[in-house]
Amino acid sequence: MRHLLEIDDLTLDELRAVLELARRPVGELTPVLAGRGLALLFQKPSTRTRNSMEIATVQLGGHPVYLTDVEVGLETRETLEDVTRTLGCYHAGICARVFSHAHLERMAGLGVVPVVNLLSDEAHPMQGLADALTLMAEWDSLEERVITYVGDANNVARSLALACGRLGARIRLACPPGYQFDPAQLDRIRATGVDVEQGDRPADVVPGSDAVYTDVWTSMGQEAEAQQRRRAFEGFTVTDAMLAGAPGAVFLHCLPAHRGEEVAAEVIDGPRSRVWPQAENRLHAARGVLAWLYGERT
Ligand code: CP
Ligand code: NVA
Repeated sequence: MRHLLEIDDLTLDELRAVLELARRPVGELTPVLAGRGLALLFQKPSTRTRNSMEIATVQLGGHPVYLTDVEVGLETRETLEDVTRTLGCYHAGICARVFSHAHLERMAGLGVVPVVNLLSDEAHPMQGLADALTLMAEWDSLEERVITYVGDANNVARSLALACGRLGARIRLACPPGYQFDPAQLDRIRATGVDVEQGDRPADVVPGSDAVYTDVWTSMGQEAEAQQRRRAFEGFTVTDAMLAGAPGAVFLHCLPAHRGEEVAAEVIDGPRSRVWPQAENRLHAARGVLAWLYGERT
């Protein structure tokens, strides 16, 4: 039984296999979930993740069941272990968006059914796969491409670095002090062979980039820090002026976005933006992961 809690749960060959499945037309995939259920449990809101997972499940013949934590009460109404074992009675797998990554590890550790991370405080692997698909469509190969992330070294940044970095891209980060990857996180990324460098000035890393990526300054669950974060991230808004030294760079954002905070409207709504193919790729990535988890091991 396999789980996907972070991109480095996959070997490089497996990562490539998932991406290959994601790019395959639906009609060429076996309906590996025919007659089976998939539990989609959310402790936080979602637009892209819920919808892409539901439709991918249907495309593979399965039946998605959306569950909010208001109803399930993970660790309040019932222990995580009892919830996991219960859902395992009905479903082929549990896909969950949680606050604590450790909760996913506990679920997976029970070995009841495959567990897929739909975003935790540490990682967003389904997004990282969609990001890789988006950039692969841009250039065919990510080898030696420079992907620069500006903003908060968060869940999205880590999965982006692991997915695109392992496919050969050079990962550069500009994050304010206090909002950078700690040495253990950098070690984990480098341990997979990724070329990653981190600084605190966008002007040092953006020029010459092939892609520039940003995400919200305040992630879900951090709302009480929003004011403090707005101050810390001053100067980190991705604008046309910031991108002047990277004239050919495409722009990515996992969405939801806050125009005027982490990105200017002129960039996210402008010609270099790839955010809509990127959002669509969430569906293809979801289908690739499920096809791989439930049997299509190419
Ligand atoms: N990018 C992403 O995960 O979007 P949602 O929060 O809407 O699912
Ligand atoms: N970093 C953001 C991503 C949302 C898709 C969050 O965790 O809220």
